[in-house]
Amino acid sequence: MEDLKKIKLTRRQWLKALIISILSIELMYVFTSLSKNNLRRKQNKSMYNAGKLSSFQPGQVYPFGTQKLYLSRFEDGGLLAISTRCTHLGCMVQANDNGFVCPCHASSFNQYGEVLSSPAIRALDIFPVEVEKGMVMVDLSSPIKRKGFDKSQLHYES
Ligand code: FES
Repeated sequence: MEDLKKIKLTRRQWLKALIISILSIELMYVFTSLSKNNLRRKQNKSMYNAGKLSSFQPGQVYPFGTQKLYLSRFEDGGLLAISTRCTHLGCMVQANDNGFVCPCHASSFNQYGEVLSSPAIRALDIFPVEVEKGMVMVDLSSPIKRKGFDKSQLHYES
């Protein structure tokens, strides 16, 4: 009878070890999947090469109609990639001397994409900008919604 108790205890320990092993394998699988998904997401970035940084003059706005963006370079050298998509109903905004205007319902936006007049109530979306080997790269896969502009949204290249 005592031998039987020992076997039960051993079996219980064995079962406990088995459960812990299965849970460990499950956890490893979950963490591996998560890191693979993060890597895949990073690789799926849709980086658009807008051109050489030196070709963008300060104080100018450059349209990239097929990419649905305007690339603005401000007087201090800051870069801002602004979506052409109006935040009211999605029409394509057009650049003018004051910023941007929407031809559909006349919303207007300043040079930073902030709303000047409704019906739009939210600033134009922006895209992350990087400069790699002197080329301006815009991440079209990650539009950023925002309420307004702040200087941290500008990209500076030192
Ligand atoms: S879609 Fe631009 S103002 Fe309506």
